[in-house]
Amino acid sequence: MTLPPVLHDRLRLPVVASPLFIVSGPDLVVAQCTSGVVGSFPSLNARPRPVLREWLADITARLAKYDANNPEAPAAPYAVNLIVHKTNSRLEEDLATIVEFEVPIVITSLGARADVNDAVHSYGGIVLHDVIDNTFARKAVAKGADGLIAVAAGAGGHAGTQSPFALLQEIRAWFDGPLLLSGAIAHGRAILAAQAAGADLAYMGSVFIASTEADADLRYKQMIVDSGAGDIVYSSRFTGVHGNYLRGSIRAAGLDPDALGDSRPAVPNFGITEGAEPGPKPQAKPWRDIWGAGQGIGAVDAVLTAAMIIERLRAEYAQARAVLL
Ligand SMILES: Cc1cc2nc3c(=O)[nH]c(=O)nc-3n(C[C@H](O)[C@H](O)[C@H](O)COP(=O)(O)O)c2cc1C
Repeated sequence: MTLPPVLHDRLRLPVVASPLFIVSGPDLVVAQCTSGVVGSFPSLNARPRPVLREWLADITARLAKYDANNPEAPAAPYAVNLIVHKTNSRLEEDLATIVEFEVPIVITSLGARADVNDAVHSYGGIVLHDVIDNTFARKAVAKGADGLIAVAAGAGGHAGTQSPFALLQEIRAWFDGPLLLSGAIAHGRAILAAQAAGADLAYMGSVFIASTEADADLRYKQMIVDSGAGDIVYSSRFTGVHGNYLRGSIRAAGLDPDALGDSRPAVPNFGITEGAEPGPKPQAKPWRDIWGAGQGIGAVDAVLTAAMIIERLRAEYAQARAVLL
């Protein structure tokens, strides 16, 4: 299918950098966009609420300045993630700010709402909605989402359980709009593989936690570098919804990663009502102390600038194309 210009024209690699609770802020977003991939952050990272306006003013000003200095290779567009869940008391206010700034791409998670999509469409923005199965995909499109993010097994954060092949195949059977694939994509070869399997773009998160611009504890970045797929634990213990977390961070919180037990009541969100964990370290909180990551991090072997990470991905992608195509 033909991608809308906002997902095509200014991208120098077919990648959307996914929103990362706590971790992504203006510095990372600007570095991603100026390196030619869509950068994004969750609106909830801008705290307290008025900070969202400051972040959007900052990002748009820095990108405009970059464009003025680099008219031949302007920055890729940016995206803001909205958690569309009834527990998100900021939703209406954050949406109004998004409309005011005419944010080009809005990523909605944990709930699809027609009125949210209508608000983004009112100024010409597009909405990408993330889904873990074909049923949610159909619902999202019925409510007016422009594109879908298929969150497959192995993704960081609230991952799905389906194989990327199965998920893309079922969605592509009826949907010819923009389709992104998420889950353990951390190498340029995997970006090409996502396209071969039916996606238009790759959606990548964990690989950017180990960037100098990421707002993450240095021990978190180093644990991403030192860990591989075998160090990722899939559990509902921390938020009530299954997600992928770093084994080492669970251990550091005084919990046994192999005996996590029952989940807490479902609070399927990124930090809207996060609570303390019972256990030897009562202050350990999901995302802040129990660190999320996807299974692809074996490809990460150093903490680098986002520009260097994207350069590596671009070289790997080009090489994979040269070998296969
Ligand atoms: C630490 C962390 C925080 C995340 N926070 C969010 C979030 O706030 N909103 C959201 O929609 N997805 C969030 N995700 C999921 C990512 O957007 C994306 O689906 C995932 O990172 C892709 O898989 P990968 O990490 O294997 O590349 C988060 C993932 C991680 C690892």
